[in-house]
Amino acid sequence: MSFSCIRLSKICFLLSVIVCAVLLLLIPKFQTNWRPKSYPQPRPPLVFNGSWKSDTPLQQVESSSTDHLDDETKDELVKQWNNYIIDTRRSRLKATGKMNESPVNPFNSIMTNHVEPTEVSATEKLESNDVFIAVKTTRKYHKTRLNLLFQTWISQAKELTFIFTDWEDDELRLRAGDHVINTNCSAVHTRQALCCKMSVEYDKFLESGRKWFCHVDDDNYVNVKTLLHLLSAFSHSQDIYIGRPSLDHPIEAADHARNDGSTTAKFWFATGGAGFCISRGLALKMSPWASLGSFISTAERIRLPDDCTIGYIIEGLLEVKLLHSPLFHSHLENLQRLHGDIVLKQITFSYGGPENKHNVVSVDEVFSVQQDPTRFKSVHCLLYPETLWCPPLMLK
Ligand SMILES: *[C@@H]1O[C@H](CO)[C@@H](O)[C@H](O)[C@H]1NC(C)=O
Ligand SMILES: *[C@@H]1O[C@H](CO)[C@@H](O)[C@H](O)[C@H]1NC(C)=O
Repeated sequence: MSFSCIRLSKICFLLSVIVCAVLLLLIPKFQTNWRPKSYPQPRPPLVFNGSWKSDTPLQQVESSSTDHLDDETKDELVKQWNNYIIDTRRSRLKATGKMNESPVNPFNSIMTNHVEPTEVSATEKLESNDVFIAVKTTRKYHKTRLNLLFQTWISQAKELTFIFTDWEDDELRLRAGDHVINTNCSAVHTRQALCCKMSVEYDKFLESGRKWFCHVDDDNYVNVKTLLHLLSAFSHSQDIYIGRPSLDHPIEAADHARNDGSTTAKFWFATGGAGFCISRGLALKMSPWASLGSFISTAERIRLPDDCTIGYIIEGLLEVKLLHSPLFHSHLENLQRLHGDIVLKQITFSYGGPENKHNVVSVDEVFSVQQDPTRFKSVHCLLYPETLWCPPLMLK
């Protein structure tokens, strides 16, 4: 009797030890199951040398760029990524000397809206090869739109300008050499094709090592002087995203990758048709969601076009605010309201397409509207009267 009782309690003891051990083993599993999966884990910064220039087409790069890495390497890279963020925050706080401000964007309080270049004094002297202007075009517009740009503003900004297209064009190659990038993206005007181009623009900018990324369309005139003036008001290591919002309210988009119940994201974005700029410091932080094709998968998450996706990454994920500037203009506005000398102070403007020919800026008639329907040539001669094809009378 007593023998079997001792035996029984021994068995009981052993059983409880086993149960405890199993429970202990299960705890970490439960914890990971219970942790709310909210924020996408940042992917580590990527090393931009040799290997990424592989000839894999973009479609194949779409999947997460770290998926093929083993866990140890991944952890190491994520650690580096976190250190990078902490370091840049520290240096930024030191630089501004305002420890009590939000580390996310110390500029928020100073300039929420309407940044005019004259409001701020230059903090950083910019050389022309500090800025990377990506001009997005397509095969169809090489002869028309692009020629006009080469004739006008690009002639003053060869060093800064990179053409992103979808076709190998020998004539264009001769004209601009390695400043033409054939993205190999589709020439159709779909969300996917546009995102594909933006993705290549972003990667080429990071590779260039320049301080500022600006994106414009092939129907934009860029006043390079006013652009450099605006950008020199900031430091490229700050988090700067500047442009014109296309709506007067933030956009709300369904985020198909969030599992934390918040299925929509609300954010401002700068309209691509008016052009926008991003500092290198901020561009580097976008890398987990933008580099090496991950931009395309990010765009798929919210099913919105390229410029919205940029806003989503910056405002929605990185929580950096768009600086609204009234100096960028697209043809979605009434451009006729810009006239006289005011035109010459803007950074970008565009023109209405064939269906809206009259939507152009009003400037003094250097060339008639028949000779210069977009008004780009007239503006260019007012800005650079010494240009050979400008009327000699312009030089006073
Ligand atoms: C990248 O460059 C670093 C140093 O420049 C080198 O050590 C490394 O092997 C390179 N990585 C690849 C994948 O080429
Ligand atoms: C596009 O394809 C060409 C030829 O295969 C290649 O040389 C080029 O690097 C590709 N462009 C990009 C941006 O990958």
